[in-house]
Amino acid sequence: MFEFAVFWDWLAFGVRWLHVVTAIAWIGSSFYFIALDLGLNRDIPGPADGEEWQVHGGGFYHIQKYLVAPERMPDHLTWFKWESYSTWLSGAALLMIVYWVGGELYLIDAQKADLALWQGILISAASLTVGWLIYDFLCKSGLGERPTLLMLLLFVLLVAMGWGYNQIFTGRAMMLHLGAFTATIMTANVFFIIMPNQRIVVDDLKNGRTPNPKYGKIAKLRSTHNNYLTLPVVFLMLSNHYPLAFATKYNWIIAALVFLMGVTIRHYFNTRHARAGNPTWAWAVTALLFIAIMWLSTAPMHDPLEEAEAQPLTPYEQRFAEAPGFDDAHDVVLGRCSMCHAREPVWDGILWAPKGVLLETEADIARNARQIYLQAGISHAMPPANVTYMEPEDRAAIVRWFRNAGS
Ligand code: HEC
Repeated sequence: MFEFAVFWDWLAFGVRWLHVVTAIAWIGSSFYFIALDLGLNRDIPGPADGEEWQVHGGGFYHIQKYLVAPERMPDHLTWFKWESYSTWLSGAALLMIVYWVGGELYLIDAQKADLALWQGILISAASLTVGWLIYDFLCKSGLGERPTLLMLLLFVLLVAMGWGYNQIFTGRAMMLHLGAFTATIMTANVFFIIMPNQRIVVDDLKNGRTPNPKYGKIAKLRSTHNNYLTLPVVFLMLSNHYPLAFATKYNWIIAALVFLMGVTIRHYFNTRHARAGNPTWAWAVTALLFIAIMWLSTAPMHDPLEEAEAQPLTPYEQRFAEAPGFDDAHDVVLGRCSMCHAREPVWDGILWAPKGVLLETEADIARNARQIYLQAGISHAMPPANVTYMEPEDRAAIVRWFRNAGS
């Protein structure tokens, strides 16, 4: 019916789709509640802590907030947790598909650390767990009472993790893992802290006890962190599509600055929602940080030519270099792709190989076999708009070669 490469590409797309949708639901509801909470009118009579009137989709909503809890448990209570859990679960699946199964290409960088694939996977999984344990320990230590210092330490932890990942993984795996690390903290905050505390409060109410306000306070600290971490996580996840962000020398510093942009942007909106001023300076700082990031990305990492020559082909890649039909496919790629996908592209307006995909040497072509097959063999994604006039016979040559290698 169809072969593994096709199935796998669609699986990756499907899971990515799911992940983006769940993340939209999570971030959407979290932004909604942050804005709601900050904007509440607190000057009201009665037992409620604050209220707000809203209009949406043809109806009016009257929302009231009770701190720590209402007098009596309502019969029906809507929880918000699966937005977060499903984002994490689908993200973990996507991480496994792209960075574990595809680890040879995307996770391991033999020039940084000569890891076996299983070692890389182990580090990938363990680092996410250990990161949460360190973070949780910091929050539960006396530092919980000093939120600014705690936030500063959290920033140091994140920068250290970024630097550490960059010592062993590829640049894109570094960025992605730093995002996953941060997002794991966020979901674990919901799963291990915010939800259990909320359940204690609900339980107290049901049994006629007065809930301890400390639970609300703890939840507040954790959700403040989540608030400031949201935007950087989205940036880090998207960065994988932009080689200037992940494949340049100072990628880990770029990641560090992204966390600062998350704070400045959120500060602006938090202040506005609380009707506490209009800190336009936050946008100026954000713009400066972004310019600094662009500038940092201009430092080249290493000579890609040397890099490609330095690494021998893996046995998997070797199979494509030796498969019957390689010479034909090679000629096609040189004739139709190399003008753009070169170390020094000759196509007008293309300054570096698009997406960092090099298709010049025999080794390049063997390495990118599956991508060549998917982009230019069975789909017509490449060349863009068929600008180099690939003939059906050219595509057939690629398909024949790829299938000869038995994948
Ligand atoms: C005119 C220049 C040009 C030519 C010729 C060209 N490409 Fe591309 N290629 C691009 C650009 C631009 C992108 C980035 C597209 C994007 O940003 O989505 C790209 C992206 C890619 C990617 C990465 C796709 C991804 O999403 O990661 C692959 C693989 C690729 N090209 C293979 C090929 C192959 C194989 C050929 C020849 C059959 C080819 N390209 C010919 C410009 C070109």
